Amino acid sequence: MSISQANPAGIVAAAVKEYANIAGGLMPLLHAVQAGLGYIPEDLVAQIASGMRLSRAEVHGVISFYHDFHYQPRGQTTIQVCRAEACQSMGSRALEQHVKSRLGIDFGDTTLDGRFSLEPVYCLGNCACPPSIRIADDVYARVDDKPR
Ligand code: FES
Repeated sequence: MSISQANPAGIVAAAVKEYANIAGGLMPLLHAVQAGLGYIPEDLVAQIASGMRLSRAEVHGVISFYHDFHYQPRGQTTIQVCRAEACQSMGSRALEQHVKSRLGIDFGDTTLDGRFSLEPVYCLGNCACPPSIRIADDVYARVDDKPR
């Protein structure tokens, strides 16, 4: 089944059933829902909270704290631009503006065609070769905003 064919309530129900009786089960539950749907439906937070015997505020707090969780479907490819010090000192702000301009979106957004989502990141562990950017699972070093 593709993500677009998924049944959100069914996936949440299955995850609740799997993790409800496990100490610390909320995080793996949220990862399972995120993996199954590509996002965590905000209208199903109450179902998650009820199943995990938590408040909706507690569940929302976890979702909003971790950058890996999203309330909206993400693009097919996520692009992350590093905003931490080493990359900033070598021009990541210009790179950031370039990427935003080319995609026509801001951080946290997804292109209208659903191909790309753009996120800030605070270090990709590649500080010796700034500025760094990650496209899907690949990290690229010494990226600038200049065409080649
Ligand atoms: S500061 Fe950018 S990769 Fe570490």
